[in-house]
Amino acid sequence: MKIDILTLFPEMFSPLKESIIKRAVENKKVEINIINIRSFASAPHYKCDDEPFGGGAGMVMMCEPIFKAIESINTPDSKIIYLSPRGKVFNQKMAQDYSKLNHIILLCGHYEGIDQRIIDYFNIEEISIGDYILTGGELPAMVLADSVIRLIPGVLSDDSTVEESFSNNLLEYNQYTRPAVYRDMAVPDILLSGNHKKIEEFRHNQSLEITQKNRPDLLK
Ligand SMILES: C[S@@+](CC[C@H](N)C(=O)[O-])C[C@H]1O[C@@H](n2cnc3c(N)ncnc32)[C@H](O)[C@@H]1O
Repeated sequence: MKIDILTLFPEMFSPLKESIIKRAVENKKVEINIINIRSFASAPHYKCDDEPFGGGAGMVMMCEPIFKAIESINTPDSKIIYLSPRGKVFNQKMAQDYSKLNHIILLCGHYEGIDQRIIDYFNIEEISIGDYILTGGELPAMVLADSVIRLIPGVLSDDSTVEESFSNNLLEYNQYTRPAVYRDMAVPDILLSGNHKKIEEFRHNQSLEITQKNRPDLLK
């Protein structure tokens, strides 16, 4: 898979150079390119934003540099996503669907957002990471990229992504590791029993309980 990220702030993307994502890049499971929209703006000022037509606060990212940036990488196989609070709210099912794509272009807005003609012309999907406003699309792009990349086959061991929160509409059970007793707090006996059937049952019931308490909407 190739992920191209279009941004005015390329230096914000160092988190994608760490840990599991770094390994996925090294193992050629994914190629990530951070592309500076400003390098497609015109000299001498390399201007990328202007005041909104009709008035109002803030600045709007202009058509020209973003059109040129998209046209430099877009293919019939590309899926273009604009990170936007107006979009459909991102979830694990969408991450699973996106992990099967060959090429994703993530467009990061800033200021008041981007000129609507960019969205209309390229038929871009708008995706939100939640009902709150951030200063830019850079963090949302990293959230989306991270959640998609870890689902690409071979990036994690298969069982790590099967039994986790949101698979089967449930949240994950409690996790424990050594030591078995820490400051008088003992791990539930059943987890030390070696009885896999009973452990599975115990974890499933715990998942149900936690989901009922924290996210009853998932059970509907
Ligand atoms: C300050 S926001 C613009 C908000 C916009 N004026 C509105 O009211 O919908 C600047 C940029 O941050 C990004 N952004 C902010 N919140 C987001 C969210 N919840 N999900 C995805 N992107 C978001 C978008 O790329 C947006 O263009």
